[in-house]
Amino acid sequence: KSPVYILAIESSCDDTAAAVLQDNKVLSNVVARQSVHEEYGGVVPELASRAHQQNIVPVIDVALKKANIEKAQVSAIAFTQGPGLMGSLLVGSSFAKSMAMALNVPLIAVNHMHAHILAHFIDEENYDKPEFPFLALTISGGHTQVVCVDSFFDMTIIGETTDDAVGEAFDKSAKILGLPYPGGPLIDKYAQLGNPKAYPFTKPKVDGLNFSFSGLKTQILYFIQKNVAQDPDFIEKNINDICASIQYTIIQILMDKIKMAVKETGIKQIAIGGGVSANSGIRTTLKETEQKYGWKTFIPKFEYTTDNAAMIGIVGYHKFLENQFNDASVVSKARIEF
Ligand code: KG4
Ligand code: ZN
Repeated sequence: KSPVYILAIESSCDDTAAAVLQDNKVLSNVVARQSVHEEYGGVVPELASRAHQQNIVPVIDVALKKANIEKAQVSAIAFTQGPGLMGSLLVGSSFAKSMAMALNVPLIAVNHMHAHILAHFIDEENYDKPEFPFLALTISGGHTQVVCVDSFFDMTIIGETTDDAVGEAFDKSAKILGLPYPGGPLIDKYAQLGNPKAYPFTKPKVDGLNFSFSGLKTQILYFIQKNVAQDPDFIEKNINDICASIQYTIIQILMDKIKMAVKETGIKQIAIGGGVSANSGIRTTLKETEQKYGWKTFIPKFEYTTDNAAMIGIVGYHKFLENQFNDASVVSKARIEF
């Protein structure tokens, strides 16, 4: 059956997303963001599942309309099986199952972490795809992983965070500075105007390719408390330098481990995904490695890098080609084997 139309649904955290792919091309990619969490400074699971419940029908409707296809043309339904918040995952999986049953098309369960990685294979003009094997670095509010990718379905985690995710390191630091949630983009904004070496923070010592960010957060908290005690306006006066120094340290922590991973594997193709890949400092630092060390780096379009359904769709497409289908007994998993 050609072309293949995949309807993809993603609801693992706080964004309700649906996309339609025609083979490896995206026809529509719709996300309903939930603003209810802002005032709480983080995602509230109970509120997230309720908002998914309200958003899912309209989001899927819009995705189908924008793609300009009829429900009857859908070849298969792909959805996020996990990892994520159980209440959120259940909304997407129940909907996907019912719709697959109603349309009498196959159901495809997708691992959200595979999707962040395989998002690089969405067909886009002027976007070179990585070649196997490559290293994938997934950095977001929920994840920090270095993965060795040998083929579409053969990948191994070689490093991950032992505590906070990179995005949390940004957001929690921002919170200490009194910035609103999520603070990552704001730190980035101020950092561009500051001196990254103004305040040296120490990097954690973590074995192998794993990461740790909770120590940095504590270090920043004590540093701010000490300075604010001496000068109540310390943050206001030095916000650019503080943000630049925090961002610089986080980037150094990431880069140290990527360099180590390149050395250990001999692989020089690095593909970045997750919301934190929007960070201007990370982008610049990575681009520099192409000249400096002869690496090749890949950063997809922003809409394919934050949580979205197009990335679920591209995994769905490749699973469809391999007849990797699930029956309706497939269950959502908050944690999932890679
Ligand atoms: O992938 P994403 O949208 O959602 C998940 O967490 O899965 O990532 C959101 C994270 C947040 O922690 C946010 O602060 C961070 O990405 N982020 C950034 C930037 N843009 C988004 N962090 C640093 N600099 C940015 N420009
Ligand atoms: Zn994600």
